[in-house]
Amino acid sequence: MNETSPRPYLARRPAAPLSGRVSVPGDKSISHRALMFGALAVGQTRISGLLEGEDVLRTASAMRALGAGITRDGADWLVSGRGLGGLTEPEDVLDMGNSGTAARLLAGILATHDLYAVMTGDASLRRRPMRRVTEPLSLAGARFFARAGDRLPLTILGARDPLPLRYRLPVASAQVKSAVLLAGLNAPGYTEVEEPEPTRDHSENMLRHFGAEVSVSAAGRGRHIRLKGQPELRAADVAVPGDPSSAAFPLAAALLVPGSAVTAANTGLNPLRAGLFLTLREMGARLETANERVAGGEPVGDLTAFYSDLAAVDVPPERAPSMIDEYPVLAVLCAAARGTSRLRGLAELRVKESDRLAATAALLRVNGVRAEIEGDDLIIHGGAIPGGGMVETRMDHRLAMSALVLGQAADAPVRIDDARFIDTSFPGFIGLMRGLGAALEAVA
Ligand code: S3P
Repeated sequence: MNETSPRPYLARRPAAPLSGRVSVPGDKSISHRALMFGALAVGQTRISGLLEGEDVLRTASAMRALGAGITRDGADWLVSGRGLGGLTEPEDVLDMGNSGTAARLLAGILATHDLYAVMTGDASLRRRPMRRVTEPLSLAGARFFARAGDRLPLTILGARDPLPLRYRLPVASAQVKSAVLLAGLNAPGYTEVEEPEPTRDHSENMLRHFGAEVSVSAAGRGRHIRLKGQPELRAADVAVPGDPSSAAFPLAAALLVPGSAVTAANTGLNPLRAGLFLTLREMGARLETANERVAGGEPVGDLTAFYSDLAAVDVPPERAPSMIDEYPVLAVLCAAARGTSRLRGLAELRVKESDRLAATAALLRVNGVRAEIEGDDLIIHGGAIPGGGMVETRMDHRLAMSALVLGQAADAPVRIDDARFIDTSFPGFIGLMRGLGAALEAVA
């Protein structure tokens, strides 16, 4: 974060409905992976639609520091890959900023490169657990030295003679799965990973796109993934779709403001990311999909949300991986919905950019909405949003955007302490929302 002082904002109920058609920025998960896979491939990868958010720019800087050529070419990005195993030792500490995905996926890559690297991040990232990746990655022969609780800064000594990995994920995490697969890329033999519930499969899709051999089979409720190590990764162009996790915010605002209709064009519709849209339909949301197609190996389409009279919902725990980043904004919608909602099995939210379970409950309560945490469940008593609160955003972009959406439906204006972190995933959010008619103001 370059800006040194906080950027407080205020959101209020707009005088008129929200309307318009927008394209949200590129998918964050796919953008990180496109840069990383491009850097590991032989040849030049052209990426269109890359998210130019701070998290992804951190990945670009790190891959450059490891020897890849990464440049902007008009609206596209070009990556000159080093070839698998070809990364070079970075001269300085790799700063991953606010990004857990960047840090954990890169740890996977570095684990099977024979080099020394040190990784750090901002205060939020330095609080987040890294054992979930250092434990499996040690099986490849890498060594890690970290602060207490396996927190950043993290020193990585990559394996000289990497071993393939076999690992069953203790938690459903696409980051951990991807770290294991990325490490397995530069090890001989087959790397196998099993996940207890299916999580986003962008790594598997992109590995195939770059020429790796990946097979996926069902394993109980989850999946078993098998990757053949040391493939010839060939540069392959990537078209990044709009991020459904970003589209969630303007679409949610449209559902809340009477008379609204908002379209998020070219939005990624990967079923393993679509849990929010399924849940919204269960709540009675009018959400229409048009122009469905496959672009760059991922399903995409145009999503339109119309103002809807929402009813409370009970979201089962097994749906969490397909909407893990969407709970704060879903909680905002539950606050407006008739009845009591229960969002189940949210333990993983405690280790996001902030403790998102506690922070989401606090966001609602400070604005007069009744919400409780019971075990790993969040319970929200909906119906009306008094507003008038000041939300602490805790270096967490999704809390900031969720609070500003809440303000669109609150009786009294909602304030946030800091809008700066929105730039990690959704640069241009304020302007895009204002363009639709949302009432957002910078405050002193
Ligand atoms: C991501 C996986 C999820 C998600 C994050 C992006 C990814 O994290 O919350 O925003 O790109 O793989 P976990 O794997 O920790 O659930």
